[in-house]
Order: sequence, then structure tokens, then C-alpha cells
Amino acid sequence: MVEAHKGISCCKHVVLPVLVMLIVAVIIFLVKDKAHPSPVPSIPSSTPSAAPTPMVPTLENGTYGAALATSLQFLQIQKAGKLIGNTIAWRGDSALNDGKGAGLDLSKGLYDAGDHMKFGFPMAFTGTILSWTILEYKQLLTGYGKLNLALDNLRWITDYLVNAHSADNVLCIQVGDPKVDHSCWDRPESMTEERPLLFINKTSPGSDVAGETAAALAAASLVFKSSNATYSSSLLKHAKQLFDFADKYRGIYSYTYPDLANYYNSTDYHDELLWAAAWLYHATGNMTYLQYTIDNGQKFKGYGDPTYFSWDDKRAGTQVLLSRVQLLSSDSLSNNINTVLGSYRSTAESVMCVLVPGTPISTTSRTEGAFNQTKRK
Ligand SMILES: *[C@@H]1O[C@H](CO)[C@@H](O)[C@H](O)[C@H]1NC(C)=O
Ligand SMILES: *[C@@H]1O[C@H](CO)[C@@H](O)[C@H](O)[C@H]1NC(C)=O
Ligand SMILES: *[C@@H]1O[C@H](CO)[C@@H](O)[C@H](O)[C@H]1NC(C)=O
Ligand SMILES: *[C@@H]1O[C@H](CO)[C@@H](O)[C@H](O)[C@H]1NC(C)=O
Ligand SMILES: *[C@@H]1O[C@H](CO)[C@@H](O)[C@H](O)[C@H]1NC(C)=O
Ligand SMILES: *[C@@H]1O[C@H](CO)[C@@H](O)[C@H](O)[C@H]1NC(C)=O
Repeated sequence: MVEAHKGISCCKHVVLPVLVMLIVAVIIFLVKDKAHPSPVPSIPSSTPSAAPTPMVPTLENGTYGAALATSLQFLQIQKAGKLIGNTIAWRGDSALNDGKGAGLDLSKGLYDAGDHMKFGFPMAFTGTILSWTILEYKQLLTGYGKLNLALDNLRWITDYLVNAHSADNVLCIQVGDPKVDHSCWDRPESMTEERPLLFINKTSPGSDVAGETAAALAAASLVFKSSNATYSSSLLKHAKQLFDFADKYRGIYSYTYPDLANYYNSTDYHDELLWAAAWLYHATGNMTYLQYTIDNGQKFKGYGDPTYFSWDDKRAGTQVLLSRVQLLSSDSLSNNINTVLGSYRSTAESVMCVLVPGTPISTTSRTEGAFNQTKRK
């Protein structure tokens, strides 16, 4: 058992974030021809434009629509805890006692991959990206009949993250012991191993994971704003405190806990601080957060030249998010702010040129069929 499992344990843990990125890629390409994307999340000072009802392509096998449906189903399958309205025949309740020893309910959340680990860093990133997806492409998801599924997946993550933020300046970032977990190939419904918790705090910091969790909760607060104001403001309250914690007590979580470098190694935290501030600005309209990205953009990351967006490197996402502030709100912003947002935007544009086929600097390293319009029906 132990040996058989080892071979895949080195790469299987990236499954969750990769799938989530796929959802985004799929939706972007579905939307490209079929609909005009709507400029949400709305920034308080921006003028929202009414988006027309998108034409919805079919969910055929071999199309991006099928990939969207499968990706959202994957997140359903990964659910821990007491399942509600479960539609996956071979899944049942599991991890019901996670967190109990510390007086916390950490039973929800998503397992990372084929393992039973709850890794806070990629799970929070999944929550941020799922929120962004819902905010930008709500109409398309509705057209597919997948909005409630996406919302349910998101809430399963945010309920967990809120409980993981057990006190000011304390965040549980992991449930389970990856070494023990990865050496036992069993079903989560029947696992019997200890489920230790790992926390960051003032003296054992992790600005990356705390920043990403702040970003996730700020973004999700926008998603739930109209349907559940109480829940939304609770998410936002946690997001603000987590950002303060991340900013004030700085450190890389995989330096604080070196063993974790073997799983989701974080190379930096400055990108998460900017990413979290950008989301908090969208969620609150409070200029303090926008000013943070203006004051620190150059200092923290030099705007950078990322060629991809990932669970470790949030620069590209931050640049795109801040570009939309400039595109939609430049009239109401000072020259200085517009100039700095312009730097974020020019980097965002070069990242997009690398990703989109047919530009002079388009990447040539693609899988067959990826971003390939020919294959779409
Ligand atoms: C897609 O493929 C699966 C597996 O081959 C099959 O069970 C399913 O019926 C197909 N769905 C459609 C819509 O063709
Ligand atoms: C932070 O967490 C570490 C590791 O669990 C613990 O040893 C330390 O006492 C905690 N510090 C504070 C201020 O609670
Ligand atoms: C809103 O969220 C709260 C807190 O999670 C929950 O108790 C309540 O049932 C939700 N209300 C609605 C209308 O969904
Ligand atoms: C983790 O990232 C750091 C910083 O980039 C690097 O020095 C280290 O070698 C990495 N560790 C592993 C196990 O990949
Ligand atoms: C904006 O956020 C900052 C930082 O959290 C806070 O000190 C300030 O009171 C907020 N301003 C408003 C108008 O809410
Ligand atoms: C796109 O897919 C078609 C049909 O499978 C294939 O012929 C073509 O080479 C692909 N293009 C790229 C750029 O991969």
C-alpha cells in the first residue's frame, strides 16, 4: 500500500488548484465568443454596464462546457464533513471530528487531491478564484444551470476558512499530517489516523497563507453580498483582520514550517499582500487598500513579469484585477494612482499576450487542444 501510493504523491497534490485554473480558462474561452463579459465585481466608483444574456453552448463531451461541468463536479467530490444533499453516489460523511480537539469545527473544506489533506494555502486560492469566476461569469454559470453548484462549492470552502481563523492573529493552515496521510491509501469515509492541526500566529507567521485567506474571504463577501448580507459581512470582517495579521507579522509559511516546502512551497508573500489588498479594495471601496497597492507595487514585486498565474504566484491576477480599476474608474482617481495602476496594467497586458495564441510573444508550450478554438463545437 505504502509503496504503491508513493509514486503519485509528489505531483497529485497540485490537482485542486490546477482544476480551478481550468474552470477559469474554460469560462474565459466560452465567454470570448458567446458573450460580453460583465464588469463585476463592481467597484463603488465605477459605472456598471448591463451585460446581455449570453448564449450558452451545450455541455457536450470534448468541449470546454464539459470541462466546466466536470471541474465543478470535482470540487463536489472533494468535500469533507457532513454532506448535505450529496449527489455523488460513492461519497459519504467524513472528517467529522476535524478541529474538535482544539474546540473548532474544521469538518468542512475540500480535500486537496487523492489524499485527505486540508491544505489552507491552495484551498484559499481555490476560494478566491471560484469567487472571481462567479462574480465575472454569473450569467454564464446560470445559463449552464451550474451557479448553485459553484456557490455551494465556494461556501464549503469559506465556512471552513472562517472557522480556521480561530482568533485574531491565529489561523489554522492545515488539517492532517501529510507524511502519514500520503502513506495510507484509503477512503476519507473510513480513515482512522490522527488529524493534527497546524496554526500560524504572531511568532510563527505566514503572510502568504493569511493573505490568500484574506483575499478569498474578501472576494467571497462580494459573491454573497446580495443573497446573505450577514454572512457577507462576517466574511469581510475576517478578511480585514487576516490582512492586518498578514501585513503586520510577516513571514513565509513554508519557512516557518520547513517540512511544508515539500507540498505547497511558497516562494514569497508580497504577491499575496497586494492580491489581498486589491480584493479588499473591491469588497470595501476603502481607498486605504487601493493606496496600499499603489505604495507597495514597485517596492514589493516591481510589478514583475510573470508568465503564468498560480497558487504560489498571484502577480498576474493582481495586475488584471487592478487594471480593471483603471479601466473602469480612472476618471475618479488621482493622476498618481492612475500612473501606478498603468504599470500594473502594462504588465497584465504582456502576461495576456503570452497566454493568448497568435501574439508575437505567445507561448509555444501548450498541451494539444488547450486554448484551441478549432476543437470547439
Ligand atoms: C460523455 O462521455 C461519458 C464517458 O464516455 C459518457 O458516459 C457520457 O454519456 C457522455 N456524455 C455525452 C453528453 O455525450
Ligand atoms: C505560535 O505557534 C507556535 C507553534 O504552534 C507556538 O509554539 C507559539 O507558542 C505560538 N505563539 C503564540 C504567540 O501563540
Ligand atoms: C446566511 O448565513 C448565515 C450564517 O452562515 C446562516 O445561518 C443563514 O442561514 C444564512 N441565511 C440565508 C438566507 O441563507
Ligand atoms: C522552496 O522555495 C524556496 C524559495 O524559492 C527554495 O529556496 C526552496 O528550495 C524550495 N524548496 C523546495 C523543497 O522546493
Ligand atoms: C479604511 O480601512 C482602514 C484600514 O483598515 C481603516 O483604518 C479606516 O477606518 C477605513 N476607512 C473607512 C472610511 O472605513
Ligand atoms: C487544434 O486542433 C486541431 C484539431 O484537432 C488540430 O488540427 C490543430 O493542430 C490544433 N491547433 C493547435 C494550435 O494545437
